[in-house]
Amino acid sequence: MSDAIWWQRGIVYQIYPRSFQDSDGDGVGDLRGVVRRLDYLVALGVDALWLSPIFPSPMADFGYDVEDYCDVDPLFGDLAAFDRLIGEAHRRGLKVILDLVPNHTSDRHPWFVASRASRDDPRRDWYLWHDPRPDGSPPNNWLSNFGGGGWEWDAATAQYYFHSFLKEQPDLNWRNPAVRQAIYDVLRFWLDRGVDGFRVDVIWLLIKDEQLRDNPVNPSFRPDEASQHRLLPLYTADRPEGQAIVEEMRDVLDAYDERVLIGEIYLPVERLVAYYGKDLRGAHLPFNFQLLSTAWNASGIARIIAEYEAALPPGAWPNWVLGNHDNHRIASRIGAAQAPVAAMLLLTLRGTPTIYYGEEIGMADVAIPPDEVQDPYEKQQPGIGVGRDPERTPMQWDADPNAGFTAGRPWLRLAPDHEARNVAMLAQDPTSILALYRRLIALRRTHPALAVGRLEHVVAVDEILIFERRHGAGHFAILLNFGHEDRVVARPGPEIPAIVLLSTVLDERGDALRPEIALRADEGVILDLTRLPG
Ligand code: GLC
Ligand code: MG
Repeated sequence: MSDAIWWQRGIVYQIYPRSFQDSDGDGVGDLRGVVRRLDYLVALGVDALWLSPIFPSPMADFGYDVEDYCDVDPLFGDLAAFDRLIGEAHRRGLKVILDLVPNHTSDRHPWFVASRASRDDPRRDWYLWHDPRPDGSPPNNWLSNFGGGGWEWDAATAQYYFHSFLKEQPDLNWRNPAVRQAIYDVLRFWLDRGVDGFRVDVIWLLIKDEQLRDNPVNPSFRPDEASQHRLLPLYTADRPEGQAIVEEMRDVLDAYDERVLIGEIYLPVERLVAYYGKDLRGAHLPFNFQLLSTAWNASGIARIIAEYEAALPPGAWPNWVLGNHDNHRIASRIGAAQAPVAAMLLLTLRGTPTIYYGEEIGMADVAIPPDEVQDPYEKQQPGIGVGRDPERTPMQWDADPNAGFTAGRPWLRLAPDHEARNVAMLAQDPTSILALYRRLIALRRTHPALAVGRLEHVVAVDEILIFERRHGAGHFAILLNFGHEDRVVARPGPEIPAIVLLSTVLDERGDALRPEIALRADEGVILDLTRLPG
């Protein structure tokens, strides 16, 4: 594995800082809390932690509205606490990835305060200001991704500004070279502090159509969907000029050694892979979110894997994501019984896996009563299921009243099952999902074939997904039963005895000596097909 870079062979673990570990009893997670849990991450076996935004912010969108790109919000700590986190992480061999939010700032960012102060301010052109149409209405039909119109009227200067999200999140003007340089300086500020890379927020939205053309109507819009899907984001997303910006960001990182550029991108595969850039000069890892939205069945997932692998440009490194802070948790989407199968899939596919905090203990969405809703997206379009609070609840560490997360009152309610589902208890149980995650990660670290090997023979037989991984002499087959019934399938690989390296059931299975193998309901297995010498 020596020739693979850390972000190719490694595993990324996403921390939503508000919800991971509180250290000061204010009910909100913080950087000192993260430091306290670094040994947990080492024991889990992950290689890098990605922190959702920690920068000073009015928290209209919980940190995705940045007021100062080069500091830490007092809620989370300060720069000294951050330096300590980097030091403690690096000392343990863990990398640290930050969340860069370059598409928009907070409306309280000094850049925007200046920009809205007058039409003549030097920062005016740092944001997207436009005149109304003759009847006073917004310049065009563009919408906010949280619902409602995308243009906000500013009476003092008699122009509209554009916001892809909340009106408290004005979009920066990425056509302005000064904006670009200012953000590249932000990258350097953190790279110089030792940060190992960035996950770039909504990287496919940075550039909007210069001619402000109206977005077309979406012919397949369903009335039960979030209202912004009424239009297709033809002129507000994935514009061709955006590629040059990704390349410029990459240039900034390339002046340092082995830093990683990850892009948040929700696009169909053929457009997604464009973000690797011409000659792979773009993002190292354009996030592959296909497992977030696909129907959970063997044939569909076999197809997704094959299509993705086929679409990857030569030399591009794949990646897979099961969950994040914007999507319902995997255990809720597919059911607790299939969560171990999802874990085995994520950790045996070819490409860098990203784990969302709590997935490793099988955390599920938590129903949040209407009067406790925090998420602005839910507040903007209540009751249609777009809210993101359910997947952002505090990490469940132990059976204490507040799950070991805080000594105070948690900012978001805990899962009702936290007394039974928590790290302390699952760590004692050799058949728990946490034990499975640890074993899968350990196997991935031991066998280069599972981490960086080739991916071969992807097939779906009834409800069983089968694929193989190979590297050097190492040869493994992965069989995943997406069904809730026992099945017998033909065993792939050569006609030699195969060793069951691991079953998601975590019991002793005995070796698979015969040409077929029986899988139990919701079971996945890794078979070792490595031919022994002689
Ligand atoms: C990204 C973030 C999401 C945020 C949005 C606006 O999609 O992941 O949480 O609300 O950008 O910044
Ligand atoms: Mg705190």
